[in-house]
Amino acid sequence: MSLRIAIFGSAGQLGVELAKEFSSRGCELLRLTRAHVDITKSAGLEPLLAAFDPDVVINAAAYNMVDVAEQEPQAAFEVNALAVRSLALACRQLDARLVHFSTDYVFDGLAGRSYTEMDPTHPLGAYAVSKLAGELYAQAYLENPLIIRTSGVYGPGGLRTARGNFIELMLRLASSSNPIRVVEDHVASPTYAPALAARTAEMVFAGLAGVFHAGGGTPISWYEFARLIFESADMHPELRATSEREYRTAARRPPYSALSNGKLEKAGITPMPALTEAVKDYLAARARA
Ligand SMILES: NC(=O)c1ccc[n+]([C@@H]2O[C@H](COP(=O)([O-])OP(=O)(O)OC[C@H]3O[C@@H](n4cnc5c(N)ncnc54)[C@H](OP(=O)(O)O)[C@@H]3O)[C@@H](O)[C@H]2O)c1
Repeated sequence: MSLRIAIFGSAGQLGVELAKEFSSRGCELLRLTRAHVDITKSAGLEPLLAAFDPDVVINAAAYNMVDVAEQEPQAAFEVNALAVRSLALACRQLDARLVHFSTDYVFDGLAGRSYTEMDPTHPLGAYAVSKLAGELYAQAYLENPLIIRTSGVYGPGGLRTARGNFIELMLRLASSSNPIRVVEDHVASPTYAPALAARTAEMVFAGLAGVFHAGGGTPISWYEFARLIFESADMHPELRATSEREYRTAARRPPYSALSNGKLEKAGITPMPALTEAVKDYLAARARA
């Protein structure tokens, strides 16, 4: 089945992989970056989409600066919440399905185990509130949006973005001789963007709707993740474990925000690759780039 798919945020880490994945499946794509359209300018969205007449609109655009959002909560809200409202309204008007990405940060991370879709949300800061509001707007205006919550995304696209990703940050820090301190008391499920893009395509073609968790599948502390990255890259910087107490950030973060992929797998979607394999794959893709 050939679908017409509009992708917002198509220059981001996930967006580039979504474009690759859907184009390899024979879909007709409208790849939108900020250079084409600012999603906070609501008036331009519907005419742009109407001219393409998509079956599916995928929103991988986001304001992801978790700490900066504490200084400018309105900017985060405009992109992560109000723009999703505009996209949902446009989808309703054009009878298109909306696929929207959200975050593990909608949870407070106090459960001490991987979160399921049934768990109550409790965002801890401006970024998290804005992302949860985006989910609510999508659900308020559409019968059947597909909302995919993910966690700690890393993909080769991060090589070309100013924000990069955790692996790039670690590799950059390793190139200086200073010890690297990483928090040991925060656990997430880092997610490989190409693997997430492939599962997203499976979900779209299976016609899934509702909220789904699609994290990397392995709960791991950021410290242990950094260790895995350096082992995989055969690098040996001085890595020290630290804690939230010693390493304060502007935004509060959930201490344990790993996501359970149980619902995704029950729906028949291919399980995520093992974290070690995904990191190896990332490093190989990085070397090729
Ligand atoms: N990255 C993570 O660790 C993480 C964790 C959990 C959930 N998520 C979610 O996963 C999704 C994909 O994240 P990602 O890692 O691919 O993010 P990313 O690499 O930061 O890409 C986001 C893209 O959105 C674009 N964008 C931002 N504001 C825009 C605007 N006003 N108009 C149009 N485009 C705009 C950005 O363009 P510019 O580069 O020009 O700003 C960028 O290309 C997002 O929904 C994110 O919230 C990410």
